[in-house]
Formats: sequence, C-alpha cells, structure tokens
Amino acid sequence: MTPTRTEGPVVVHGPKRPGTPALEARRLTKHFPVHQLGPTRGRQVVHAVEDISLALPEATVTAVVGESGSGKSTLARLLTQLITPTSGELLLDGQPVGSSAKARRAYTRMVHLVLQDPFSSLNSVHSVRYHLERPLKLHRRAGRDDLDSRTRQLLERVALSPAERFIDSFPHELSGGQRQRVAIARGLAVEPRVLLADEPVSMLDVSIRLGVLNLLDELRERERLAILYVTHDIASARYLADTAVVMYAGQVVESGPATQITDAPAHPYTQLLLSAAPDPARTDPPVLRGRGSPPSLVNPPSGCRFHPRCPFAMAVCATTAPPALPVATEQVAACWLHSTERTAAESAPLKPGGPAAGPALP
Ligand SMILES: Nc1ncnc2c1ncn2[C@@H]1O[C@H](COP(=O)(O)OP(=O)(O)OP(=O)(O)O)[C@@H](O)[C@H]1O
Ligand code: SF4
Ligand SMILES: [Mg+2]
Repeated sequence: MTPTRTEGPVVVHGPKRPGTPALEARRLTKHFPVHQLGPTRGRQVVHAVEDISLALPEATVTAVVGESGSGKSTLARLLTQLITPTSGELLLDGQPVGSSAKARRAYTRMVHLVLQDPFSSLNSVHSVRYHLERPLKLHRRAGRDDLDSRTRQLLERVALSPAERFIDSFPHELSGGQRQRVAIARGLAVEPRVLLADEPVSMLDVSIRLGVLNLLDELRERERLAILYVTHDIASARYLADTAVVMYAGQVVESGPATQITDAPAHPYTQLLLSAAPDPARTDPPVLRGRGSPPSLVNPPSGCRFHPRCPFAMAVCATTAPPALPVATEQVAACWLHSTERTAAESAPLKPGGPAAGPALP
C-alpha cells in the first residue's frame, strides 16, 4: 500500500490530564509573507508554524524544544494573540476566544508572556514598585488600601524576599535572575491561568538559571498555572517539563512525556538534538552527530522536512510527509520508520549506502 496519507486524525500535543485544558490551540498555522520584488512578489511565504494542535492543562509544564528558526517563538506569540494565525483557533477554558476588544483584553489577563530578555522587558527609569503596581491598578486587582501589601505579596510569590529589599529598587540594581523574577511577578499580578515563557533563562548567567526554573516549577504547583516553556535546551526541558514537544522547521516532529522523549527519542531529529546536549545520566552514546543545518522555511523540503539531514531517509520520506505515529504510551513521532505500512520500494535508502530502514532506532 502506498502511504500517501499526510492527513491523519488531529494529534493534540501536550500533557494528558482529565478535564478541560486551560488553553488549547487547534491546528494553528502561521505563514509570514515574504517582502520582495520580482515575479514571485507577494506569493512567497515563510512557513513558520504548520498545523499544530496543543493542549495546556493547569498545573503542568509543556516544553517546546527545537533549533533556532524552528518556529517556537512564533507558536508562543500565536498563543498570546500577539500575532494572528493564518488558520486555526484558540480555546480558553474550552471556550473559543472571541475577536472583540473586550475578549482580547480578557485573554491578555489570562495568558501572560514572559520574554527572554529581562533587561528590555522592564523599564529602567521605573522602580520595581511601579512595575508591579501598574497591572494591579489597571486590572483592579488592588485598591488604595491594599496596593502596597499586594505588591509585597507578589515579590514574595517569586521569592524576592524580604520584599522591602527589592520593592524600591530599579532594574539596574538587580541581577538578571532577579529582573526575570520581577517580570514574572508582573505577570502574576493579574492572576493568569497560563504563563508562556519564551527562553526565560537563556540570557541569564548559568548559575542563576536553575533558580528561575525552580520558580516556574513552584508556580506550576502552587498557582496551578499551565506553563509553556520554550527552549533550545532539551536537558532543561527534561528537568522542568511534564511533556516535551519537539519542533523542526515549523512542525511538531515528536511529543511525549519529557523523560521518555529524552530517554528513548523516537524521531531522528530528537536524537540529533540530544546528541548536542551533554547528559551525564545517559549511558548509551547518542545515535546521531550534527548533520547539516535547518532548511529554508520559504521552500521547505518535500515530504518529511528533515529528510535532507536524516541518515535513515527512505524513498517515501522525500515525497510524503509522515503523520504523527504512536511509538509508546503518550508518545508520538512523525517518522516513517515507525510505520508498518511501508513497501520495499518505499523503504529503499534515499542516500546510496545509507543505513537500511527498519526498527533500528533505540
Ligand atoms: N514577523 C516575521 N516575518 C517574517 N518571518 C518571520 C517573522 N517572525 C518569524 N519569522 C520567521 O519564522 C521562522 C520561525 O521563527 P521563530 O522566531 O518562531 O523561531 P524560533 O524557533 O523561536 O527561533 P530562535 O530559537 O532563534 O528564537 C524563522 O524562519 C523566522 O525568520
Ligand atoms: S526516516 Fe524519513 S520520515 Fe523519519 S525522520 Fe528520517 S527522513 Fe523523516
Ligand atoms: Mg525564539
């Protein structure tokens, strides 16, 4: 049978929990127009995010992992409604998100984005107190009487304690980790349901990264937040996340429980990512070494987008995009190696002398 299908049932990535997820994305796609002159003017697009469905239940962390340019930030920005999807929809607590100004304001309160750079996300001329009081006042979360105590509580919630040590400081008087905590506290001021953290520790000194990751971990439990953690670093995804979602060239190539994904990656790209991340707990050597670089998202490769870099690529990989296939409990991989429906012709190595396909993956 020729596996021409790329349309399988919609696979919703993210931690599996009973009940309605705090935030759900259905088949999100974002194509950015390419601004250029000439005969292709206005017709070319960057395929930044392609048909991604994701559910973020409360009190969970979902890590989105991938190389630079794989579409992680675009996905996070779509989830905050900072950009409009080309297609797809968002549901907050099971309800489709409206497009009116009122609905957007309500959404902004519930879904908060923490940016990579705590330097630029805080205004250097204003104190910590100003940054935290502003959302409390704007969203009527505190009155004149309890403004000071609510501001101090926010600082305590992000472990900037005692509060009086920080409350009248200015951003330049804080460390990078403390600034990132203030940025997170500002988000907590409006009691959000969802925190989207786009590389929240990548600009911090290595020694203070763990503290911020541990804070996110505490917030998941204590505030029952649904957290999306965007990172290049698959080792930190394993440390923090319940579920890891691996993106390559705008698509999800693998997802599942974070420990399972890192212990037994089923997609050759996840193996490549792991091979670049030193992991003292791993006893077996990684399967792949670095090979090539990510493709253009204006003209992405046909079939499996990873096929030009994949040492296991078969004939079918160059022509037909693989659907997400179950590989273990709650783990799926979009890779033809895990299909039992390949013919001998389809399974022929794409590269002369390439390894024979089969159940050779660990
Ligand atoms: N506003 C935009 N207009 C055109 N192309 C864009 C725009 N924003 C992002 N892109 C493109 O979309 C693709 C995905 O970008 P994105 O920033 O989401 O990647 P990323 O995975 O977050 O990368 P990094 O790890 O470097 O932050 C890239 O090719 C990028 O150039
Ligand atoms: S074996 Fe084929 S489908 Fe799987 S990752 Fe490699 S190129 Fe893609
Ligand atoms: Mg990014």
